[in-house]
Amino acid sequence: MMTKILLRALAGEALPTPPIWMMRQAGRYLPEYRATRAQAGDFLSLCYNPDLAAEVTLQPIRRFGFDAAILFADILLIPQALGADLWFVTGEGPRLSTITDARQLGELKPADAIHDTLSPIYETIRILSRELPPETALIGFAGAPWTVATYMIAGRGTPDQGPAHAFKNADRVAFSALIDRITEATILYLSAQIDAGAEVVKIFDSWAGSLQGADFDDFALTPARRIIQALKQRHPNVPVIAFPREAGDRYIGFARATGADCVALDNSVSAEWAAEKVQGDGCVQGNLAPHHMVTGGDELIAEAQRITRAFRGRPHIFNLGHGITPDANPENVAAMIEAVRSA
Ligand code: CP3
Repeated sequence: MMTKILLRALAGEALPTPPIWMMRQAGRYLPEYRATRAQAGDFLSLCYNPDLAAEVTLQPIRRFGFDAAILFADILLIPQALGADLWFVTGEGPRLSTITDARQLGELKPADAIHDTLSPIYETIRILSRELPPETALIGFAGAPWTVATYMIAGRGTPDQGPAHAFKNADRVAFSALIDRITEATILYLSAQIDAGAEVVKIFDSWAGSLQGADFDDFALTPARRIIQALKQRHPNVPVIAFPREAGDRYIGFARATGADCVALDNSVSAEWAAEKVQGDGCVQGNLAPHHMVTGGDELIAEAQRITRAFRGRPHIFNLGHGITPDANPENVAAMIEAVRSA
């Protein structure tokens, strides 16, 4: 049987053309996504409706023929499953009930209660396992504990993760207990996604770059290692992609230290640097700047080809350095794929 090219790259194979997918590939830049979201009512209703969530997951596969589909859900469903209130303010972003002291931590549900809330997500995965084309790999995901904690503490996205840093610095013991609770829930969540049919899982640590020194080791690297070790014990053949965004030189050795099969690179590091310093550890993913999907043109082609060539000869998955934005032009996505495949 032909192995899906995403899985071949993750197994360490250098391919003449890398597999391609995009963070946020199912999203508001696509008119068909906006139509399905309107049908669902709002973003969270879409996440918890398995038929419609599967439909939006499939839309970019039909339109562009990406080599992987990523489950349509959100990293903030875990806090909700642990008992936080969650809602999305249109045009602004997520809002959650905040956690400001150790007492509120005590009110969170135990990690194994998450399945009560998250079972529709597993159903979305089961539908996708049946409906995806045979060459398309299915990626499940969760937020990394630090990134999820930053939203749980502040109750919203923050430019500098100030409230989470303040909580950590004031009460490291309580903060570590929150990280542990999210870590345990994440292991159970990703394991259930794999049982339902996810073939790869990705851990999004969008705010890893704001952790310095020992904090990076304690709250980005160690939780990632714990999650990956636990998953590998239960599912030794399922590859894991880790995304410690804006980790800079701490990308070096991150895969080795955590057991990840691949690290995803944001667009603040150069492909040439990462090819030399990071790709020696194994597969890397990335790292075209998302703004090219808005502007397109010769720069898009040149950048997509430069990145493809920089990583050529060793395992690489082509992706953006962060999610595609709502103002992107779908025609530029098609041009990007063509540029990578002809590089
Ligand atoms: O990549 C995919 O297409 C899969 C689905 C997915 C979503 N969010 C859907 C989504 C994934 C993997 C995520 C991850 C996620 N969610 C992260 C980590 C990655 C990153 O971008 O840094 C974070 C921090 C979140 C939390 C979150 N969700 C925020 C801050 C926002 C608001 C910003 C925005 O883009 O609107 C969301 C909303 C969200 N998650 C949307 C989508 C498609 C837009 C919702 C809408 O339709 O209005």
